[in-house]
Amino acid sequence: MEPLIARPRRLRRTPALRGLVRETRLHPANFIYPLFIVPGNGVRNPVGSMPEVFQLSVDMALRECQELLELGVNGVILFGIPEAKDSVGSGAYLRDGIVQQATRAIKQRFPEMLVVTDVCLCEYTDHGHCGLLHGQEILNDETVEILVRAALSHAVAGADIVAPSDMMDGRVAAIRNGLDGAGFQNIPIISYAVKYASSFYGPFRDAAGSVPTFGDRRSHQMDPANFREALKEVQLDLAEGADIIMVKPAMPCLDVIREVFTMTDVPVAAYQVSGEYAMIHASAANGWTNLELTMMESLTAIRRAGASIILTYFAKRAAQWLQENQ
Ligand code: PBG
Repeated sequence: MEPLIARPRRLRRTPALRGLVRETRLHPANFIYPLFIVPGNGVRNPVGSMPEVFQLSVDMALRECQELLELGVNGVILFGIPEAKDSVGSGAYLRDGIVQQATRAIKQRFPEMLVVTDVCLCEYTDHGHCGLLHGQEILNDETVEILVRAALSHAVAGADIVAPSDMMDGRVAAIRNGLDGAGFQNIPIISYAVKYASSFYGPFRDAAGSVPTFGDRRSHQMDPANFREALKEVQLDLAEGADIIMVKPAMPCLDVIREVFTMTDVPVAAYQVSGEYAMIHASAANGWTNLELTMMESLTAIRRAGASIILTYFAKRAAQWLQENQ
């Protein structure tokens, strides 16, 4: 028999060889774990559509942080479910708002934990939209003013990074200006620069109580059909001062993640969103796929595409898996 020209299988023969040539590795420090904070004490409400995810009161969130740090996960992103909502989302910027309280408590107890805050109004408005309304229309510039106040209140409470997720135009520059003007020049902005109007956010809206009372988010979030528009959003946000660029959702957007990685020189983040998480769990619960393996494969694919920061509800479980398997 003629010798084969190449035998790629030579390097796949044993676990040690495969480990030697593995191109992508995950580390718990890559992960940011989302926390949903509710008022009260001792509260730990399961989120029906997201197994192993809970709405937590501040005291319970602190326990979660302890566990995360022990696993090597040093970052959380906070979402708030406020006591009361109104038409302008004022709960988003109260000094003692729910996220501000949680931020203060976490930073006091665990100064080493990186606290990222999500900056958006949808959890705080009684209509569930990401901005102020004029009739059915979401106002841009008026909303940006409130977002700046929210971001500032997070910084005052001790947030390490703010992450605007609203998709209003010009909000990164406005937040940068607001932070700088108040002496927070050193607080970075992770911009949800490429945020698609995705049906994969469904379970999150249960978890955060942010289902819009009418309409949808297509007048500000991006059309999932668009690629070049994503690059425009990235360029704008970088010009406005974003430090880290996020793409969301993650697995449906691996092409975009890769392009952002190639075209920029800033760190790239990706959000493996609630629907991606729910889907992986649901399939495993049916016995159709293996939970741990699909979890690790999905996270590795996101990392391989170019995201060095992954926001994921799997952070804890994946960190555990890495401890046990590496
Ligand atoms: C907006 C926000 C959303 C998510 C993160 N920030 C919801 C939305 O745009 O409707 C979705 C995250 C997920 O689905 O896990 N505050």
